[in-house]
Amino acid sequence: MVSMLSIIEAKKNKAPLDETQIQFWVDGVVNESIPLYQSASLLMAIRLNGMTFEESWLLTKAMTASGDRLHYDQHPIVVDKHSTGGVGDKVTLVLAPLVAACGVPVAMLSGRALGFTGGTIDKLESLDGVQCELPEPTLMKMMDEVGWVNAQPSSRIAPADRALYALRDVTGTVDSIPLITASIMSKKLAGGATHLCLDVKCGSSAFMKTESSASELAHALCRVGELGGVKVGGVISRMSEPLGFAIGNYLELWEAVQYLKSWPQSPLASLIEALAIRMLLMYDPSISDPRAQLMNAIDRGAALESLKRYLAFCGGKKTAVQHLVEDDLGWGNARPVLAPKDGYVDTIDGHGLALDALALGAGRMTKEDRIDPMAGFMLRVGIGDRVEKGDPLMHVFGDRAGDADPLLLGRHFGIIPQARPATSLILASVDP
Ligand code: URA
Repeated sequence: MVSMLSIIEAKKNKAPLDETQIQFWVDGVVNESIPLYQSASLLMAIRLNGMTFEESWLLTKAMTASGDRLHYDQHPIVVDKHSTGGVGDKVTLVLAPLVAACGVPVAMLSGRALGFTGGTIDKLESLDGVQCELPEPTLMKMMDEVGWVNAQPSSRIAPADRALYALRDVTGTVDSIPLITASIMSKKLAGGATHLCLDVKCGSSAFMKTESSASELAHALCRVGELGGVKVGGVISRMSEPLGFAIGNYLELWEAVQYLKSWPQSPLASLIEALAIRMLLMYDPSISDPRAQLMNAIDRGAALESLKRYLAFCGGKKTAVQHLVEDDLGWGNARPVLAPKDGYVDTIDGHGLALDALALGAGRMTKEDRIDPMAGFMLRVGIGDRVEKGDPLMHVFGDRAGDADPLLLGRHFGIIPQARPATSLILASVDP
């Protein structure tokens, strides 16, 4: 007879778990018949002793089947994107409307901010009226009317992951490739897409610190996708500085709008282009010039319209959407952080900035905390830029901007006498 104790003992002794054992555990997590301390013990045994690829796949399968699975039946191809997360990561806010404006159905499920990590849902909901927690039938309607879906998953999508992720978060068991694989892919398989474009981050403030561990995770995600019937490919990208200039919910939404309006050239634009091109080719491999299609969607205003349509569908007030598109951010009320010396910007500590933005109200320390949508930073410089002493490095926004200490904030910028050669954000491509 299977028991939770025998499963823990097996993993403690490095034996692979079989389908019956994994199913027993996942069922017990969802119906709460297994105490959290036993799941915590098994998670730590997995974290320390690993899982074979077969076990990771069986866990993904059981976690996916623990809840509902979305189906966009009228669309034979639906494309999703997953990023393992980064400071200032507003890629989804640009990518989804851009790709959808080229006629590709896009379906994504996104999360909220907790700790220093940002959440796409909080960024979208920073606009007055927008509400992204929607029931499943509304998502089908959203796909029909908007052309793309992004929403907070209901508690019926992969409930086993919801319970296990919360436990991993407080038991030091997040950083396990088989567990990350099952966690990500169970939500992706349940989310209803047929194709998944990955942006696996690697660097000091990412889950994966080295390119080789990022590559290992990316390949596990591809293999699990293949078994689950979802084609997966993408890129591995560098995550050692904030993505783009804005850090903070409304500020990031505002920056996304600037990309959809005029496509400024930047490392972030290159990353979004690489992902968008992959998504277009996943939808139709015969497209001969995907970049031209993307730029055409920007130039004729279709990409921006697509975001506006989405925000209106989710309840965004007409005046708020209009204001977002025309907003100049009122720089006069923001607090500048000035360069302490002449030189070239060599490093920007994204993790440090994210923690300070959190302290100013841009995120939540606990699930119940209220976010100040305007709180955050707008960087005025990027890596490699020349600065003179007294030039603004960034501006601080939000109700509590007055609490910020500009001198301390300035320490997140490394300034050196000579510029170093620029490096691309993209480190490698990931092919199925
Ligand atoms: N993101 C997830 O959804 N799950 C993990 O385990 C890690 C990152």
